[in-house]
Amino acid sequence: MDVNHLIADIHAKLPSLNTGKVADYIPELGKVSPDKFGVHAMTIDGRAFSFGDAQEGFSIQSIAKVLTLTMAYQRLGHDLWKRVDVEPSGTPFNSLIQLESDRGIPRNPMMNAGALVVCDVLLDYLANPKADLLEFVQSLSCDVTIGYNETVAASERAHSDRNRALVEFMRSFGNIKNGTDSILDFYCSLCALEMNCAQLSNTFLFLANKGFSPICRKQIITGNMTKRINAIMQLCGLYDEAGEFAFRVGLPGKSGVGGGIVAVLPGDYAIAVWSPPLNRKGNSHFGMAFLEQFTTRVGGSIF
Ligand code: DON
Repeated sequence: MDVNHLIADIHAKLPSLNTGKVADYIPELGKVSPDKFGVHAMTIDGRAFSFGDAQEGFSIQSIAKVLTLTMAYQRLGHDLWKRVDVEPSGTPFNSLIQLESDRGIPRNPMMNAGALVVCDVLLDYLANPKADLLEFVQSLSCDVTIGYNETVAASERAHSDRNRALVEFMRSFGNIKNGTDSILDFYCSLCALEMNCAQLSNTFLFLANKGFSPICRKQIITGNMTKRINAIMQLCGLYDEAGEFAFRVGLPGKSGVGGGIVAVLPGDYAIAVWSPPLNRKGNSHFGMAFLEQFTTRVGGSIF
């Protein structure tokens, strides 16, 4: 099968590109053109497939939560799950609602609440959290050009009332240790990591390969830990649309409000797609439509 041709064909057959809305609750994200569209897939045996704006950087937003989760899991091991649960929430990514009945333990590390707890954990372990995260991402992708978009980070910092509320609410239950400003500062930076589809698919390849990155040739986490992170992505990576994503795409995946989605087929490949207009659940409308066609026509899914 000519995968490059298949990707182009799926793109050509996607319905018109004026559905969905580019995120603007972080004002800087609202400036991105809705017409951007990129795809990059990388297999564990080194084959790459690329289409459209695959080399153009964008704000990876919540996709980065998987990378900080990996770093926290590396350091804390199983104890991490005392601070954050692994259940799907069925609620939007920034919801506060279950934290009351769950006594400050976020349902999972993909929601903002869970990712903020993961940041709190990492602040205890990392000497220079932002530099250490960047070094981790650059090593996974073997690409030192990756960086933070400081304008996006500043834009989010200035509009982070809801995330601040999540931190303070969890603190009231004893599940936050560090200062709110340092947690939010780290969190807004990780969300503002800027990467292109090629860098993203390379970075996530260790999750398709039992924790061993074929890019940097290092064991990042064990095969069992990889299983668990993929399970979390499968059940929680697209929030209250995780069921729909499993049903339509059938791969562990993670979305971001910048319009990116990364998905992995264990034993085979990692794929990143970028299209900024979001559906009403906050996930890339065309990203999902593309991945549904891709896994259906290639015939590969974990199910
Ligand atoms: O905290 C926020 O609201 C954003 N920085 C990240 C949200 C996000 O990407 C959710 N994913 N679809």
